[in-house]
Amino acid sequence: MHRDGMLAARAVAQSATDPLSGLKVGDVPRPAARPGWSVVRVVASSINMHDVWTLRGVGHPAERLPIILGCDAAGLDEDGNEVIVYPVIADPDAGGGDETLDPDRALLSERHDGAFAQYLTVPTRNLIPKPEWLTFEQAACLPVAWTTAYRMLFTQARITAGDRVLVQGAGGGVASAAISLAAAAGAVVYATSRSEDKREKALSWGARETFPSGAKLPEKVDVVIETVGEATWSHSLRSLRPGGTLVVAGATSGTNPPADLARVFYLQQRILGSTGCTRPELIAMLRMMDATGVRPVIDRVLPLDEIDKGFQLMLDGELTGKIIVCPPAPRP
Ligand SMILES: NC(=O)c1ccc[n+]([C@@H]2O[C@H](COP(=O)([O-])OP(=O)(O)OC[C@H]3O[C@@H](n4cnc5c(N)ncnc54)[C@H](OP(=O)(O)O)[C@@H]3O)[C@@H](O)[C@H]2O)c1
Repeated sequence: MHRDGMLAARAVAQSATDPLSGLKVGDVPRPAARPGWSVVRVVASSINMHDVWTLRGVGHPAERLPIILGCDAAGLDEDGNEVIVYPVIADPDAGGGDETLDPDRALLSERHDGAFAQYLTVPTRNLIPKPEWLTFEQAACLPVAWTTAYRMLFTQARITAGDRVLVQGAGGGVASAAISLAAAAGAVVYATSRSEDKREKALSWGARETFPSGAKLPEKVDVVIETVGEATWSHSLRSLRPGGTLVVAGATSGTNPPADLARVFYLQQRILGSTGCTRPELIAMLRMMDATGVRPVIDRVLPLDEIDKGFQLMLDGELTGKIIVCPPAPRP
């Protein structure tokens, strides 16, 4: 490797049917320092469905290739401080005080090179001190999946202790976070999964009861956390009490479910969209994790040069929680 080079995993092409054909791990130039931005040595990152969408050509124009993938990072800043990278590059003022509403916002790896690399550069505002009670691997789970779950539950649905919450697709990164966070907040959590093994694990994260996808629940719920989309949407609406709230942040299985409008208006159900989180929400979530002892669910840790194995597990729906990717430490 060249002295100014680094190892990185990039999207170099897109394919709807064979997304891994556009994934390339190799040597690229290191990012340079620039005013107002910090260079972070990445210690751990994690894979999100967002990386798969980029490789499939969903929501990411081909003109922006090649680009280093990866939205989540925990590492060391130039002074050796342990940091978590807040992943939304945006102007809070342009979003009325909420950077997720800035029409020009970009998640790491959308317009700026991402975290599957030995180094990345982000606006210094995006660095958040990593608490010592979190490992780098745990910290790398938080910026996208965990904060999305936090915002869905507490900012959008405004859950309170005793609320009944259904989480669809228990094994997912966002879903496993939602189960853990809702249970820690005193909610009665029901979860569905296609896999018996994942249903078993969801109980250990705090779910009251788990069910195969689509099964009837013992009672209607106050809130549904939906990231699966088409495959679970009708069940989500059927499971929701009159006046209840469904928060949707993803649609892994498809974006065109039956609308079921009559049910929605007759039962006065609220359907709320949610995307990402603000920097203050990430900090608030860290305080909650400190107070409750809740920690991320990690499926496995892979070296960066084996990242394709992690992508394959995600494509096959075989993961439980988060897959961590660690670049090699730079040579002294
Ligand atoms: N809006 C945002 O800011 C935001 C942030 C993060 C993620 N997302 C979106 O949220 C979704 C989940 O992301 P993730 O990173 O958590 O992905 P993930 O870890 O791969 O989880 C996806 C989960 O969906 C479930 N699933 C998939 N296909 C299914 C089907 N046909 N029937 C039933 N369940 C199915 C699976 O659960 P089981 O195997 O347990 O059944 C799987 O574990 C993605 O679409 C992603 O783009 C959005």
